[in-house]
Amino acid sequence: MSFLKLGKLAGMVAVLGIVLAAGFVGVVGSLDLSVSKAQAQSAGNVPGNFSGNLSDADLWRGIRGGVRGTVSIPDKRAAQLVQSDGDLWRAAKNGILSQVGGWSLLAIFIVLGVFYAFRGKIMVDSGLSGQTIERFNGLERFAHWLTASSFIVLALTGLNIFYGRYVIKPLLGAETFAWLTSMGKFAHNYIGFAFIAGIILMFVLWVRDNVPLLEDLKWLAVGGGLFSKGFHPPAKRFNAGQKLIFWAVIIGGGSLSISGLALLTIIDIPLWAGSFSILSSLGFDVPSTLSPLQENQLNVIWHTIVGMTMMVVIVGHIYIGSVGMEGAIAAVSTGQVDLNWAKEHHSLWVEEHQGEIKGQPAE
Ligand code: HEM
Repeated sequence: MSFLKLGKLAGMVAVLGIVLAAGFVGVVGSLDLSVSKAQAQSAGNVPGNFSGNLSDADLWRGIRGGVRGTVSIPDKRAAQLVQSDGDLWRAAKNGILSQVGGWSLLAIFIVLGVFYAFRGKIMVDSGLSGQTIERFNGLERFAHWLTASSFIVLALTGLNIFYGRYVIKPLLGAETFAWLTSMGKFAHNYIGFAFIAGIILMFVLWVRDNVPLLEDLKWLAVGGGLFSKGFHPPAKRFNAGQKLIFWAVIIGGGSLSISGLALLTIIDIPLWAGSFSILSSLGFDVPSTLSPLQENQLNVIWHTIVGMTMMVVIVGHIYIGSVGMEGAIAAVSTGQVDLNWAKEHHSLWVEEHQGEIKGQPAE
């Protein structure tokens, strides 16, 4: 073998050696051939302190277990890299919650349709009198429409956030849907404040007429006379059905407002940890410490449940206040209702306001 060939062979062996060594270092993280494979597995450490000495498995087990670090930015939820409970939360939100919500909304339209088919529009049985009585003054009507118009925008934009990608996106296409949703989200975030102002005003104006009374039970026991023609149980300014709507708006709307402000991170109160610690002091088995992320997830679930429930209730209210009953809408449009309508639906209230009747009786 010539001297030249010997040199080439030595060169090839050297290159092969370097490649093998590099590969070995890549696999075991060290040139120390004394570290055996078994030792690396049993110690759970990465040999040679190659990328820290914790194995990836331990690291990711910790992260998936919800280990939290610290962050200096205001949003403390970012301190948790992975939260495995989030899978459960997403499944509940996109599964059972969206299904029950959708079916409930559909159900209320079916119930009202069936009711209308059997009962028809509830008419003023004694006919319109031609005389009127003031039902709501200007401020009360303003409070009603401030709350109503803001609620309708919040409901529609909320429904789009929840169901839009399944219903609207296939109809409008991804680009228009993205534009619509970002506008809707913007409106949802700001119009919430008008709704809050509306329910506060409604509460102040109407709470004294909505205190539950014993006669409300009698009204409820006969279904408010809604199912039989010509029968009208006595009621004061608001009957039991309206009181239920009022308190649903105040309590439901109040709860929506608080969870909404928490979602906007405007208020930073651990609402759920606080409520859970009350429950655990009563003996319930619930966790009393929650991460900011868990608080957020529970707020989303609660905001959705209360929002959907209120939509169902308000669809019923809109029906009875418009197509379902003759003469009711005047209360919130002109503020003046027909005297016979008032006598049939709020007889005790009319007795207290005899002096405020306007106009002459119709011939
Ligand atoms: C187009 C939608 C709506 C219509 C047509 C409507 C109609 C009416 C009518 C006619 C009344 C007066 C009933 C009476 O004189 O005794 C009323 C009262 C009231 N409305 Fe509305 N409303 C609508 C939307 C809303 C919304 C969205 C809310 C709240 C989120 C709301 C909350 C209330 C409350 C709390 C009362 C007083 C209690 C009651 O009468 O039930 N309304 N509405």
